[in-house]
Amino acid sequence: MGRRQELEKRQTLLARFGRLIAAETRLDGLLTIIAEEVRHILAADRCSVFLVDAYKNELWTKILVGPEEKILRVPMGQGIAGFVAKTGSAVNIRDAYRDSRFTQDLDRVVGYQTRTVMAVPLKGRDGRPVGVFEVLNKSKGSFTDEDEGLLRILATMAASFIENATLYEDLRRSHLETIYRMALVAEFRDQQDTGKHLRRMSRFSGIIAAALGMSYLESEEIRYASPLHDIGKVAIPDAILRKPGKLSAEEYDEMKRHTLYGSQMLANAESRLLRLAAKIAVAHHEHYDGSGYPYGLKGMDIPVEARIVSVADVFDALVSRRVYKGAWTVDDAKSYIKSQESKLFDPEVIKALFASFDEILAAMEEENRRILEDEVINRLPPGVSGEQSFERHHQS
Ligand code: C2E
Ligand code: SIN
Ligand code: SIN
Ligand code: FE
Repeated sequence: MGRRQELEKRQTLLARFGRLIAAETRLDGLLTIIAEEVRHILAADRCSVFLVDAYKNELWTKILVGPEEKILRVPMGQGIAGFVAKTGSAVNIRDAYRDSRFTQDLDRVVGYQTRTVMAVPLKGRDGRPVGVFEVLNKSKGSFTDEDEGLLRILATMAASFIENATLYEDLRRSHLETIYRMALVAEFRDQQDTGKHLRRMSRFSGIIAAALGMSYLESEEIRYASPLHDIGKVAIPDAILRKPGKLSAEEYDEMKRHTLYGSQMLANAESRLLRLAAKIAVAHHEHYDGSGYPYGLKGMDIPVEARIVSVADVFDALVSRRVYKGAWTVDDAKSYIKSQESKLFDPEVIKALFASFDEILAAMEEENRRILEDEVINRLPPGVSGEQSFERHHQS
């Protein structure tokens, strides 16, 4: 290719890069696009985007180990990426294994052999490194000065998008986490297996919503709002909430008020998610045939989000142990749900549950595994967490 065509091709690639990163607001998607595009533009075999975790004084990046996505963490100053983030200067290395800064950690984990490495810092608004772009193994020869210039341009173009997405992600996460912790408060008193039921019913709700054809965003909103459905239980006295046996009629009447308490607690919120949570809290015990509480709403008068959560909640309540009942088998719970078609539950929601049942079971197993892992980790003394540099990727 002639010099002129080479330049034109680069311009086209840069324009495409700018377009693609401007169109993506989510950090996750942004990092994937960037890595793929940079790899392509620089004719490198791999590209990693490392981000600075200032709180932990570490860098992290997502890596694929076989089919599994993991998070690799590197202490600031360590490895090539750590060096670039700490010093703010670029490096271009022709033989990685002969460079003392190279640690081989990444190679070992993914079963790879790095030959050539080039890395440049990603600078934030205040000029401090917020991350590192790293490309590995150029298809022919080593990375040139021109390649370095190009990688710097790409890093400059991407930096503010990454910074914004990170800030937004932080805000979104703390909002979601606060909501989830509020839900935990209510459940803390109710159940011993803190969070287990909430995590599972929340996943089921999101899966059912998607199977009903709702958009990704709508399904995610239902997933994150649903754990608050029982928040009103904080106002129910222990003598009722934790009663080992069957409730008397009066006790059950009081228990039913958890729907109204919940909606009062969440009423008139500014947050869309909390307003959705209020809608779910008040209506999640309404029945499709109108026999539910607190208002006896019927069919389509019950918000669809509540019709979804109702199925997800009861399904998980049945397969869980409660102070007042043992755990049912999955098959028994399934038959029960089916038997309540058009009585307690919306037939379309049941259809969606069954259509996505493999996914439901997988989510259930994943959450059960996660809870076990968390328990094991919590029991270890500080500093002893097995594979120090790895963290399971917690999807949120
Ligand atoms: P929960 O334990 O989270 O149960 C949610 C819903 O799952 C129940 O709503 C019910 O529709 C379904 N469910 C749970 N266990 C069973 C069961 O063994 N058989 C059947 N057929 N359905 C079951 P419901 O009935 O409106 O109860 C709302 C909440 O009231 C329950 O939430 C629980 O906290 C409390 N509750 C209900 N019955 C009793 C009871 O007999 N004793 C005690 N201590 N609490 C109860
Ligand atoms: C990197 O910083 O390039 C990854 C860690 C290593 O040096 O192997
Ligand atoms: C969280 O874990 O903080 C968010 C809620 C969830 O993923 O269940
Ligand atoms: Fe409830």
